[in-house]
Order: sequence, then structure tokens, then C-alpha cells
Amino acid sequence: MSDPESLNAFYRNPDRGLVNGLLHSPVPRLLGDVQSPHAGYMIESTLVPIIVKGNAEPSLCEIAAVYNAAIYRTFQKLAAGGKCQSLWSLVTGALFQSVLPTMFGPSFPLRIYDDVLTLDKSTYQLFHSIPLLPRSVPRARLRVRDALKGFMRPWKDVSADIPDVSAHGNDVLRALFALALTDDDRAGLLQTYIWGVLTNLFRLTYWLLAHLLCDRAAYCAQLQAAVDVGVAATFPDPSELLHAHPRAVNGSHFALVDAAMKEAARLHLLPLSHRVARADVALQSARGPFVVPAGSTVVAYTPGAHLDPARFDEPGAFRLDRFVGGAGVRNLYVWSKGAHICPGRHMAMYYLKMFVIVLLHRFDLVVEGGTSGPCTLPTGNPWITGLPLPRKDLLVSVKMRT
Ligand code: HEM
Repeated sequence: MSDPESLNAFYRNPDRGLVNGLLHSPVPRLLGDVQSPHAGYMIESTLVPIIVKGNAEPSLCEIAAVYNAAIYRTFQKLAAGGKCQSLWSLVTGALFQSVLPTMFGPSFPLRIYDDVLTLDKSTYQLFHSIPLLPRSVPRARLRVRDALKGFMRPWKDVSADIPDVSAHGNDVLRALFALALTDDDRAGLLQTYIWGVLTNLFRLTYWLLAHLLCDRAAYCAQLQAAVDVGVAATFPDPSELLHAHPRAVNGSHFALVDAAMKEAARLHLLPLSHRVARADVALQSARGPFVVPAGSTVVAYTPGAHLDPARFDEPGAFRLDRFVGGAGVRNLYVWSKGAHICPGRHMAMYYLKMFVIVLLHRFDLVVEGGTSGPCTLPTGNPWITGLPLPRKDLLVSVKMRT
């Protein structure tokens, strides 16, 4: 289903006959090897309200200064090292090293990075009825769980909040300890949560930068110029950028960054919203009523909407300014809609936009072989859900702007 009427009926689902298929499938348990059968229910009832609170302005303000300084330091180190690396490892490494210590403090075990990427690469298998995981996955999952178990120990022993950890991070860890779970399952659920925070953030940031570098040589320079104008107009003292208030980043001065993010999501987001029918459910569609039989799973086919020429002119093309001024947003389903709209969307948008703003304002991202002329956009793996991983990557380096 991808016509506006059926997507609307799917997301709004007024009689609540469709329940969230993903949270109540084996996937959240398999991600962290959680034994408790209630993992999905615990995420929905305990973690989602904490994520909603973490996405409110006071929480975003708290993370802003720590995250922006961390992302800036990471780019500085990359520029000083002068190393060429794949765009995927640049994006995932910089986000991993910045987002997780921002949320969970400096003692977060960053050594699990490679294992987290190994797990993430195989998650599409978890959506199959027989998940065929490569042999490396269970071992990587065990190492991540053990590292997280050690990291979580202070919250077990001390009832006060742990200093240098964000209020959101403390809330997540306290909530996990309040649940009747074994230590292994608690660490497994944290692992599932961390995957949820990072997976689409990695991918969306990646595809946005890949388009800037590949589609038209002028795009990167155009966005960089717009960011410079936005920073000059918003922050009289440029050092204030690293304390950017979430509202400043959402304002009109950074409208092109926002539009670029939406355009990358429009082109690359695969179906993410799954529902299971509790009874026969009749949904309206452009071709008349459509019955979802009880017990079956139904997926909102958002690429059908996002690539529909009736809704988007030249739908296969990346147009940097397509969404400037709010045009076409009605037909965009990046964060889903209705009761299960992504509760982490404001946090994700802040992380992503500040990544792009700090990078373009203070540094140049250079594709190996020079900046002039477009290079070829990597093709994505045909995942069934989420955003795809690149099959073959670009080599890039970061240089300090002069
Ligand atoms: C670019 C990054 C992200 C994208 C594109 C994204 C997109 C989505 C989408 C499309 C859904 C499906 C909703 C449905 O079933 O209809 C979803 C669900 C969810 N997302 Fe995100 N998300 C992102 C980042 C995050 C972050 C950072 C967090 C946590 C802090 C998060 C937490 C969740 C949770 C808990 C759900 C399940 C909500 C529910 O079923 O009620 N997401 N997300």
C-alpha cells in the first residue's frame, strides 16, 4: 500500500485493529539476545516514554554542548591525521564516538564499535522467519553484552544519578534496573536501544553526504555557503555554534540543511512500519476498501509514495532544495505518522543537522581524487527495511577550512 488514502488509514488506524508488528516481533529480542519474551512490551511501555522526554527541548539543550564539542573534536582529529577513509567508517565512527558518550558519559565502552557494526550489518536477517546470521554475529553480540553489563554496574550499586551522564542516559539506565530482568537481559535491552538510536542515524547521514559529494559538484559548495550564511546570521560569535540551541538549528537559517536531510530520506528510506492485524481490519485505499485478514502482517510501502511522479517531480533525482519552504512534506513518511511516529526524531534530527553544520562550517570533506567533478553515487544493498548500506564506498578525507 502506498497511495495517500491507504497510508493514512494504515497510520491513523482509528479502530486500533493493527498493532505494532516490529516491537512485538522477535526482532527486539534477537538484537540483544534477550531471553525475556516481554522485550518489545518493555520497550513500548518503559523506554518509549523516556525517549519522548529525551526529545523535549530541555534534554536536547543538555546534550547540545557535549555532543557538538565531541563531534568537532572528532573532525579535528580526522583533519590532523589527514587519513583517507571510507565515507561509511567516517560517518559511523564520528557519530558513535560522539553520540554515545554524550548520552552515557565518558565511561561508555567505545571499544564495542566494530562489534556494533557487525551486528548492525546483519540486522536485515532478523526480519526473516529463519534468520541466517553469519558466525561472527553471536560472538560480537556476546562481547557487546558483556561490555554493557560491566558499564551498567554503577547504576545497580548507587541510587543517585551518575555524574557526567545525561539525564536521558540516567533515565534509560534507571528504567532498565527497575524492570524485572536478569543482568544479561538488561544489557541486551540496552544493546537493542543503542541499535535503535544509531542504525538509521548512521544511514541517513551517510546518504546525505554521499549525495552532496556525488550528485553535482556544486551541491556541497552550495550547502556549505548556506551553512556559513546561517551561522553568521544566528551566532554573532562563531564559537556559540558549539552550543547551538535546538530551536536555532530548526529555524529558517538552516532550511537547506533540513531540506537536504528530507531529500536523502525520501530517496533511501525503505519500509519501516510493520503492523499485525488483531482481527480482520478494513482499510480505505484509492482503489476502494481493502481487508487485512486477522493475523497477517501489513507494511506501509513508503518508497511507493516517495518515488511517485504524481507526488514528486523527477522522483529519482536528488534535489537539494526540494523541501525548502515546506513543499511536499505532506507526502513524506520519514518518521512515520500517527501513534507510532518515531519518538526519537527530534534527537536524531539534532544529531544529524549538527553533524552536517559543524562539518561544513569548519571543515572540507574531500573525495579521493579531488573535489572537482561529480563521482558515482554508491549503490545500496537491497535491504527489506530501514535504510540500505552502501555496497561499494567512496574514499574521503577531512581538511580544516582555511
Ligand atoms: C535518522 C534516524 C531515524 C529514523 C529515520 C527513524 C525512523 C523511524 C520510523 C519510520 C519508525 C517506525 C514507526 C512505525 O512503526 O510506524 C521509528 C520507530 C521508532 N524509533 Fe526511530 N528513527 C530514527 C532515529 C531514532 C532514534 C535516535 C531513536 C531513539 C532515541 C528512535 C527510536 C524509535 C522507537 C523507540 C521507535 C518505535 C516507536 C513505536 O513503535 O511506538 N529512532 N523510527
